[in-house]
Amino acid sequence: MIVFGGTSTAGLGWAVRKALGSEAGKSEVKIFPDGERYVRIDYPVAGKECAVVQSVRSSDDLLELILMIDALRDMRATQVHAVIPYLAYMRQDKRFKQGEALSAKTVLKMIDEVADSITTVNCHFLNSAGEAVYNHVRFMNLDAIPLIAEYFKNKVKSPIVIAPDKGSVAFAKETAKYLDCEFDHLSKTRISGSEVKIEAKELDVKGMDVIILDDIISTGGTIIESAKVIKKSRPSSVNVGCVHGLFLNGVDSFRDIVDRLISTDTLENPVGKVSVAGLIAKDLMR
Ligand code: R5P
Repeated sequence: MIVFGGTSTAGLGWAVRKALGSEAGKSEVKIFPDGERYVRIDYPVAGKECAVVQSVRSSDDLLELILMIDALRDMRATQVHAVIPYLAYMRQDKRFKQGEALSAKTVLKMIDEVADSITTVNCHFLNSAGEAVYNHVRFMNLDAIPLIAEYFKNKVKSPIVIAPDKGSVAFAKETAKYLDCEFDHLSKTRISGSEVKIEAKELDVKGMDVIILDDIISTGGTIIESAKVIKKSRPSSVNVGCVHGLFLNGVDSFRDIVDRLISTDTLENPVGKVSVAGLIAKDLMR
């Protein structure tokens, strides 16, 4: 297998290749003055199986992924696997209002058109790991929550896991089981794309090490508002873990509010302490 790393997650691409002990493909990606991406594969791939590791956090990342996969096909690679640790657009998997574009369906369909297989990590609209089929597209959903739980295992003495909203309860439950501790959840109302309201709740967390888990941290509003509510119940520490750390307002915005902040490396950020490279490598070895 030859592993190519896209520009959004070049470091993770390298780590996956290392974990697999496979060849590293060489490619060139440039951005033209008008914003168009230029992709060139600079490695012989005819008759070989390839994988492209590229997280998609923007439309440009998506296009780079598609161009890379299609170029590999044109160069007669036998199979091309799309490994997309973070896949954006998965939050719109349902039509909430009539006429809305079903972004999750369209994006998955576009990738499926060129790739032989698709692998992602904690796809936003799925709650369990394994093979999934959504609107006729088959893909693999890997679960990084056990890796985050493992990270916290030796860092906290008296853990309790809190989900910031009902949508994250499955992650909290999974982690609590792993850490052999209790879990609870808060209730969130989304006011706008950047504003959320977390309902006040008295929690039995005095003197405990609270772990707040979410799949995505985008603006950080959900976690910051949750931490404020939790702190009123006087925990010993507030620890935050997420799979996909977009951190649109930077990680410094959490500084005075939480004691520890970590994410996986599905996206490049300063707190990506848990690597999903081994998880991806294991899946590619299947
Ligand atoms: C929502 O469904 C997700 O699980 C996250 O809670 C959300 O994306 C976090 O967004 P933000 O960091 O902007 O509050």
